[in-house]
Amino acid sequence: MKLNEKNIFLQSKYNVTAFFYDILDYPWERRYRKWRPALVDDLRGKVLEAGVGTGRNLAFYHQDVELLGIELNAHMLRKAEKRKVKARCDVTLINEDATVMSSVPSGQFDWVFSTFMCCVMPDDVQALAIEQFARVLKPGGRFRLLEMVYSKNERMRKKQAAFAPFVEKVYGARFDRNTLRYLEQSATLTVSSTSFLKDDTYLLIEGVRD
Ligand SMILES: C[S@@+](CC[C@H](N)C(=O)[O-])C[C@H]1O[C@@H](n2cnc3c(N)ncnc32)[C@H](O)[C@@H]1O
Repeated sequence: MKLNEKNIFLQSKYNVTAFFYDILDYPWERRYRKWRPALVDDLRGKVLEAGVGTGRNLAFYHQDVELLGIELNAHMLRKAEKRKVKARCDVTLINEDATVMSSVPSGQFDWVFSTFMCCVMPDDVQALAIEQFARVLKPGGRFRLLEMVYSKNERMRKKQAAFAPFVEKVYGARFDRNTLRYLEQSATLTVSSTSFLKDDTYLLIEGVRD
């Protein structure tokens, strides 16, 4: 894998996090697993899932999907490999940096999909990942990203702020990433809708490659 050196820190963080990721994430996963089937329900054709993690979305893809899952950390990827047996579609998983994607061909994908990857990615590589999303999508291809963001409600925001150091330390995630802004600045990708899955803390961003 060709790795962007700005991702070395995050990659090594997940060398540790990977071993207890599913246990640690369990309280949240109870919520996410209700969302995951609907998030991928209408995806068809060639789909690239970025930051596949331990493979929590794999079981829910339609059989008419040909999935390429990419993941920065080899230990996370190994866990995802075990979940491949639950998938109904063809799945290929590779160790690849979403900000580089050196082994992923251009203009081949109908969809780019990701859950909770961009909120983990450092700010200075966000635009690079978005460039790669644009590169690998076919013209007219679509993207759907789910991210955690800060609430506009002050009480909720305070709760999130109290939790933020833990979330950053363990997952590298932050509530204040500017993924939507970077997408809006893309010359090739157009954001077609934004919505929230719960309160205003889980932001779903959807769009299309021109
Ligand atoms: C919070 S986890 C989410 C995992 C999974 N998508 C899910 O919904 O359970 C974020 C994942 O993104 C991966 N990741 C972060 N930056 C990445 C990058 N540049 N390329 C590929 N994967 C990346 C991390 O290694 C981690 O497995």
